[in-house]
Amino acid sequence: MCGIIGFTGNINAKEVLLQGLKALEYRGYDSAGISFFTETGLKTIKAVGKVAGLAEKAAMSDDCTKCGIGHTRWATHGGVSEVNCHPHHFGKVTLIHNGIIENYKELQEELASEGKEPVSQTDSEIAAMVIDSYYKADPVSAIKKAVKKLRGAYAFCIMFEDHPGSIYAIRNGSPLVATNTGAGSIIASDMVALIKYSKDYFVLPEHHIAHLTEGSINITDLDHNEIEPDMLHVNWDMAAARKGGYEYFMLKEIHEQPEALRNTISPRIKDGMPDFSEDGIDDSLFADINRIIIAACGTAMHAGLIGKNMIEKLSRVPVSVDIASEFRYQDPVIDEKTLVITISQSGETADTLAALRLAKERGAKTLSIVNVKGSSIARESDYVLYTHAGPEIAVASTKAYTVQLAAMYLVSFRFAYIKEKISGKKTKELIKELEKMPGFVEKMLSCDKAIEPISNKLLKTESLFFIGRGLDYALSCEGSIKLKEISYIHSEAYAAGELKHGTISLITDNVPVIALATQEDVFAKMISNIREVRSRGAKVIMIAGADAQVDASLCDHLITLPPVNDVFAPFGAAIVLQYIAYYTAVARGLNVDQPRNLAKSVTVE
Ligand code: M6R
Repeated sequence: MCGIIGFTGNINAKEVLLQGLKALEYRGYDSAGISFFTETGLKTIKAVGKVAGLAEKAAMSDDCTKCGIGHTRWATHGGVSEVNCHPHHFGKVTLIHNGIIENYKELQEELASEGKEPVSQTDSEIAAMVIDSYYKADPVSAIKKAVKKLRGAYAFCIMFEDHPGSIYAIRNGSPLVATNTGAGSIIASDMVALIKYSKDYFVLPEHHIAHLTEGSINITDLDHNEIEPDMLHVNWDMAAARKGGYEYFMLKEIHEQPEALRNTISPRIKDGMPDFSEDGIDDSLFADINRIIIAACGTAMHAGLIGKNMIEKLSRVPVSVDIASEFRYQDPVIDEKTLVITISQSGETADTLAALRLAKERGAKTLSIVNVKGSSIARESDYVLYTHAGPEIAVASTKAYTVQLAAMYLVSFRFAYIKEKISGKKTKELIKELEKMPGFVEKMLSCDKAIEPISNKLLKTESLFFIGRGLDYALSCEGSIKLKEISYIHSEAYAAGELKHGTISLITDNVPVIALATQEDVFAKMISNIREVRSRGAKVIMIAGADAQVDASLCDHLITLPPVNDVFAPFGAAIVLQYIAYYTAVARGLNVDQPRNLAKSVTVE
């Protein structure tokens, strides 16, 4: 949601904070601020809008600082304004916060009875006030007492006026990663802000207090016991976190898919078979399972829909896919023979994390498919299968989606093999096809030339439909969310056969239809459905397999995939859908990477 960073060391902290905020901006971009120690005390600079605006303001003062904190905001409590922008101060406390303090109203009333009033409408300022109310020159003791009163999710970086050079941090739910290097100590919501300084880092354990000084980061639990954190290593570098010549991160990330797929698939193939031994996933996990539930949000949930299709097709084991934000309110039926798979790029999505926790509570075995190493979902799952997409910065998920598909395919093959539903020979054949996906996607990348002019024609569209059957229906859901989130054009994904049960009344010559027809077994039925919308005036953009016989009168635009086995067609169709969304948003002059009202990872419920 919000991006936070703290630095204390021997180099210009203002620069470290501003560069870090720029890298973290995808997490929230409605306002930003920094606070830092100067020779004359603490100073704060805030600006509504992008980090660039804050940097311009900061450049106007030549304060020298070696220690400070910074925040880029995605508003939850209180509108977008300088007063609501972080850092927040109260008394001797200055803090930044990512998360939501659920009982802030109650706390605010308590503070009001002591005559203390906040200046902002934020829950975060209330947290600063609570910490200050316990502060008697001992930061750790004040933080410990304060967090006992706070309900909700938080990652805080806190400075105390009378402790220059020190930053304190604590988290519950919301992420924080940190490292100490020759330049000093740095802490942030996400590794993209740290990568310039180190590839080695640790995740601050929940409910532990980190004390950052130039020379070290000291971590203690709430009983004052010092702990050594587990160090992690990332295998990507600064270049991966930059645009590298592309106009938008989204386009760069679309182009990174062949490599991301290779990195995700190759290490899991041994002697031509899917193999998770290096991930610590033993076949015994799959042996006893008689039911699978997939819980995830947004694009990750759409990858789950494809996964369901593949697992059921190959293993004949029932799979349900749940929207993670609904999961725990449905009182789900789970037992020890249920495998709950959570899928998440960030590994921090609050609803997905809550679904995972409920699944564990009810005795299910849990496996997560996660991109960010050491994230909460990865750490709390019994088993984790990391996708190796590298950092995904654009809010619209692209490469994270196709690697989630790859992971789901690998799981579905191994699972079916262990369940003796497919032979070793068949498994090897499937793996051979999967290994072709990086090359197949590489070929697909050149379809941008065909798609850009189509997108230009969608420019003025107010509403459209994506239709498909089976795997293509699951893909339609992904095509629709991608288009909506970055182009702001309303769209709906519909099972093609369901249109005539009501929704076809919305089809007119002003409502284009993107029809996915990549699956031979339902191709004839798709043709009938396309004719139905065509005869109601719809302009049709059709995506079909290489061998499809398509009558020229059936559609206005036809995009054909290179030859591929039908079950692998989603890897190619996904690229077409990503390009349609991307070029439509570009044609509409929108900020593709930072669509309005959205943030990259949703760490609030
Ligand atoms: O980090 P996660 O994969 O858990 O995020 C889930 C969704 O918030 C995410 O996929 C969202 O739907 C994307 N912005 C869609 O492009």
